[in-house]
This record gives sequence, structure tokens and C-alpha cells, in this order.
Amino acid sequence: MSTSEPQPLVADVADLKHCCATFYASDWARLLHGESLHPGGLALTGRLGSLLGLEQNARVLDVASGSGRSAVFLAERFGWSVIAIDLADEHSTAVVAAAAGAGVSDRVTFVRGDAEALPFADGAFDAVICECALCTFPAKAVACAEFFRVLKPGGRIGVSDVTRNGSLPDDLASVLAWVACIADAQPIAGYRSLLAAAGFAVDREERHDVVLRQLLEDIRTRLLGVELVVKLQDLELPGVDIAQVKSLARSAEFAVRSGVLGYGLLVGTKPLSASVPSVRLGPGFRAQPQSEDAAR
Ligand SMILES: C[S@@+](CC[C@H](N)C(=O)[O-])C[C@H]1O[C@@H](n2cnc3c(N)ncnc32)[C@H](O)[C@@H]1O
Repeated sequence: MSTSEPQPLVADVADLKHCCATFYASDWARLLHGESLHPGGLALTGRLGSLLGLEQNARVLDVASGSGRSAVFLAERFGWSVIAIDLADEHSTAVVAAAAGAGVSDRVTFVRGDAEALPFADGAFDAVICECALCTFPAKAVACAEFFRVLKPGGRIGVSDVTRNGSLPDDLASVLAWVACIADAQPIAGYRSLLAAAGFAVDREERHDVVLRQLLEDIRTRLLGVELVVKLQDLELPGVDIAQVKSLARSAEFAVRSGVLGYGLLVGTKPLSASVPSVRLGPGFRAQPQSEDAAR
């Protein structure tokens, strides 16, 4: 049986967010993904950065930054000042270390925070990027309204994410699949609509399905390696069900091969004439966001 809409996964949205943040801050995520936690790695981040077309010293917010690889890369490559924000405070050390290693500590900062209630003033940034994370936010429209709010008029938005075309098998609608960016992935038109509803003019869309296929192949290889080490050294991995992860990866690979899952990139602009929309604010949204020193 298959389902076109993801089923309710956990009773509490806060649990879902916590679950996602905890997973991507874990050794497991690094083991399966490497340091860059999205398909296409830094090559695709470079593509997104080029499409944003910003000047040197532009102020950029990397929403749901994970370990900050993209933030550091963008600061190095384009000379931007980047704030990396993520729900998981655990990424702070990694971001600081990566920035220091690349010699861009003065241009990369980590802030702990929620994409759905960004702790920055209106119009604080020249661009916002969000890579492989919008799909995991329970309140996507609220997050997009936040991206819009913290951008200057004329500011740029760059999103890359897992895309879904058609129905998913039941095992890809599980909590694990949600955390793995699959269960609530949208069609590329869905992301475009979310951005447009927040007020953005979407001026570019690209499909990069091949990078998702590549990532899943890499994950399969890495899982084989983990299994081998566990068997050879008679190890136990508490709380980890390798068989379940392998089965999820197999289903996802099938969904990519059959064209149901893919990866897409969208770039847009906050119109110069824009005012901040106030109608789409969800429960818990702060109408008067606290200002953040780093964003001034
Ligand atoms: C697939 S990882 C992508 C990380 C990074 N953007 C990259 O491409 O390497 C998803 C990230 O989203 C973060 N995240 C999930 N929900 C969030 C939220 N509501 N606010 C901020 N970060 C969130 C997780 O902690 C995790 O680091």
C-alpha cells in the first residue's frame, strides 16, 4: 500500500524537531553523510552561492546549518559574512572549529535557534540559504515567512531540498524517513508555492536528482562498512537498528530510480517594494523577535 500524504508521525511537533536535530548532531549522521549534510555537498552549495549573485561582505544567514560546512565554504569562496543557525547547539563547536581551520572566524558565527522563529531583526540579511532542511520543518510556511522577514527588500533566498513527485511507500512515511528528509519532502512546485506565498519572486529552479542518487549509493556503501566493522569487532551499537536504516535506504534508492524522489534548488528575491506579511504567523511565532547582536 502507498500513501500520497505522510501520516501523522509523532504526537508532538516539538518531539519531531528534537528528533531531527539530535540525529544530525550525532556521529551517525557524520558516518552516513560526511561533514556536509546535504546531497551534492559543497559543489551544490557553490552553485547556489553563484546563483545568489551577492557582493563580497554580504550578510548571509544559513538556516539549519548543521555543522556549518556550507557557511564556512561560502565565507571562504565568496567573502560573505555568514551566520549559521541550527536548532542543535551541539553544532556550535564544529562551526567554530571549521571557521578557525579555514581562517574565517571573523566572518562565520554560530547561533542556536529555530527556523520557525528566527532570533534576528527584520531586514537583517542580504541573503538566506536553507539546504536540505525545509523538508523537515513541521511549519514550512512559518519558516518561509521568517526567511522573508529577516531579509532586506531586494534580498535573495536560496533553497535546496529533497523533492517528491507522487506517492511514497509506507516505510518512507515513518519518523525515521521524516528525519531523513524524505517523508515530508514536497514537489519542487510545492517549495515554489511556499516561497511565493511568503512573498518571494522565485526566479530560478533547477533539478539535481543525480546528487540524491549518488548520496544514497554512498550511504549504502558506508552502511556495508559499518556492518562489517560491527561484525568483525563484535560491537554493539545501542539504539541503532542497521537493518531498518538499510531498508529505508533501499526504499529511498528505489523511489529515486523511479522518479518519485529527487533533489531541487530554488532561488528567489524579496521584492524591493515588499512589506512584511503578518497573516501567516503560526502559533508560538514571536511578532516582535528579539534582536540579535550578531545580526546588527
Ligand atoms: C539534513 S541536515 C542539513 C544541514 C545543513 N544545512 C547541511 O546541508 O549540511 C538538517 C538540519 O536541520 C536542522 N534543523 C531541523 N529543524 C530545525 C529547525 N526548526 N530550526 C533550525 N534547524 C533545524 C537539524 O538540526 C539539522 O542540522
